[in-house]
Amino acid sequence: MKTHCLIVLMLLAGLAVASEPSEQAVSANRGKLVFDQWCGICHAASPRMPGTASLAAKYGGSLPAALEERTDMPPAFIKYFVRNGVLIMPAFRKTEITDADLELLVDYLKAKDQ
Ligand code: HEC
Repeated sequence: MKTHCLIVLMLLAGLAVASEPSEQAVSANRGKLVFDQWCGICHAASPRMPGTASLAAKYGGSLPAALEERTDMPPAFIKYFVRNGVLIMPAFRKTEITDADLELLVDYLKAKDQ
């Protein structure tokens, strides 16, 4: 009887682990959530968004205006703007975007060192 209980428990534990989404999927999802919560209102892919419009003017088409379409930004570049702001973009505090969330955001924006 005891052995049976143990086997059932082990099977249940296995099921719980198998049904969890992979750690990588959770992180990518979290990065997008952070973007949608704090950045999308200005940087979503629409010319009506002030950040997207401003970057369209800055780069004149040589780079995508929407941050989610960029692949050229180094992590330190994104972190600098998030922590310091620019023009109408506010600086975000660690109580708003934690360092851990900023890492996930940087990954979501496909940041890489050049
Ligand atoms: C209130 C609107 C607003 C919000 C919210 C905002 N931004 Fe910005 N962001 C801007 C504007 C405007 C610029 C300046 C564009 C320019 O230089 O012409 C900018 C510039 C940037 C740049 C520099 C890009 C470049 O190539 O010069 C980065 C990186 C950036 N934002 C990331 C973010 C991230 C990440 C978030 C969310 C955490 C965010 N921004 C939230 C408005 C905003």
